[in-house]
Amino acid sequence: MTFEGIEGVGKSTQVALAAEWLRGRGLDVLTTREPGGTRLAEELRRLLLDCDHEHIAGTTELLLLFAARASHVAERIVPALERGQWVLCDRFTDATRAYQGGGRGLPAALIEQLAAIAHPGLSPDLTVLLDAPPELALARARIRSSHPDRFEQEDLGFFARVRAEYLAIAAREPRRLRTVDATAGVEAVTRAVAAVLGALLAASGR
Ligand code: TMP
Repeated sequence: MTFEGIEGVGKSTQVALAAEWLRGRGLDVLTTREPGGTRLAEELRRLLLDCDHEHIAGTTELLLLFAARASHVAERIVPALERGQWVLCDRFTDATRAYQGGGRGLPAALIEQLAAIAHPGLSPDLTVLLDAPPELALARARIRSSHPDRFEQEDLGFFARVRAEYLAIAAREPRRLRTVDATAGVEAVTRAVAAVLGALLAASGR
């Protein structure tokens, strides 16, 4: 299961609360994040978020993200799934579709080719998309961090394109992606996410 959305929608909080909710129902849950999740992938994350670079070309960024993802999938996600754990991941390939595809304008076909190499046959059973207008979400993100990272420094137009791509994916795959209005307060968002998780558990017969 994955959680997606632009910066400032409260994703990390909701991942932690969802894990707690599922553990409370007796499930064995692993939480992890992208880019990251292994030592190598966390190093790549640091490089990707660092602002102290010369310009990074879109394809360089894309390949680094998929290198991190290939490591994360092979070393962490697949072994956890094989142990029977529920994997909750803060971002996955939808983030690449939205940020590198929608935001940077890289071709969707290229992203799908790399996804087929990095995680053949593996995609989330369910994706919670936390949705809020970039004006609101970015204002929240900027209150939180006084040193914006390389992505947080992008302008509103970039985040509007990222959000539009997330909503387009949700429209294309309504069974996998569940959109939750993230403009409400934390309690209301948490209740909405719990409703989505409850439906998933009921459907899986738990
Ligand atoms: P986070 O701060 O929400 O954990 O995410 C790190 C940043 O990485 C965020 O700005 C989005 C960006 N990102 C991409 O651009 N493409 C991706 O595939 C992933 C996983 C993250």
